[in-house]
Amino acid sequence: MDKASQPGKVWLVGVGPGDPELVTVKAVRVLGAVDVWLVDDLVTAEIHAYAGASTCIEPVGKRGGRCSTSQQEILERMLAHALAGRTVARVKGGDPLLFGRGGEEAEFLRHHGIEVEVLNGITSGAAAAQALGIALTHRDCGHGVSFVTAHTARDDSPDWRSLVAGGTTLVIYMGMSRLAAIRDALQEAGMRREMPVAVVMNASRPDQCNWTGTLANLTDALAAGLTSPAIIIVGGVVAHAQATEARSEWHAAPVTCRAETSRLLVS
Ligand SMILES: C[S@@+](CC[C@H](N)C(=O)[O-])C[C@H]1O[C@@H](n2cnc3c(N)ncnc32)[C@H](O)[C@@H]1O
Repeated sequence: MDKASQPGKVWLVGVGPGDPELVTVKAVRVLGAVDVWLVDDLVTAEIHAYAGASTCIEPVGKRGGRCSTSQQEILERMLAHALAGRTVARVKGGDPLLFGRGGEEAEFLRHHGIEVEVLNGITSGAAAAQALGIALTHRDCGHGVSFVTAHTARDDSPDWRSLVAGGTTLVIYMGMSRLAAIRDALQEAGMRREMPVAVVMNASRPDQCNWTGTLANLTDALAAGLTSPAIIIVGGVVAHAQATEARSEWHAAPVTCRAETSRLLVS
């Protein structure tokens, strides 16, 4: 690839949880103007409508350990495009800087002299709370919120004991393959079995599906058909929303789904 006299700029673009109407105006403008997209697989097909007529779209998904593009290859591809003078959008679900590897990608590119700009997106944790009318920091229920991943780079666990002692609402990403371990760890850390929990799969999308229960029966969410991508919300704010929101479905069943296909999962 020829090295252009002027390298192209790279935008790390968060496109939110899936609903194309939740993409920022700024992101839409950039997505329609750049030469190349490198797209994660959490980005829904509807978002592709924001590409320009001559945009080249390269999928680089790497979900759930499936064999696909390595992180190193993604870094090198972004760099190669930029050095060839192309403008690049690295398109990511949610927010690029929340469990999205945006930080390390920006560092790598800046280290190689490439101009980088991050465009925030609505993180799936916030969208999942909104789906159930949950106010994550409702002041009647606590004093803060912690965004945590159940799946760290070093494959170790969060410090559940400190999190429970802190008493904030927990918003857990990438936890669906570890529900039993999360339940056990939180209980061992002193959280009560009856703590209200919500699980929201495919937040903001037509196939969104929600499960509500308690910490003790958290694994029932799997039996109900919920799977990744999903957010787990743990805390008194879940019960508060249930008590105060005028949502009849809260009381009808522990699982509510939007689409017919999802409803089949729990029938
Ligand atoms: C690699 S992280 C990316 C998070 C993303 N950067 C964000 O801010 O939402 C992937 C995890 O995000 C969560 N996730 C992403 N999109 C989601 C959605 N639409 N509904 C529920 N959870 C979602 C799931 O926990 C999934 O395993």
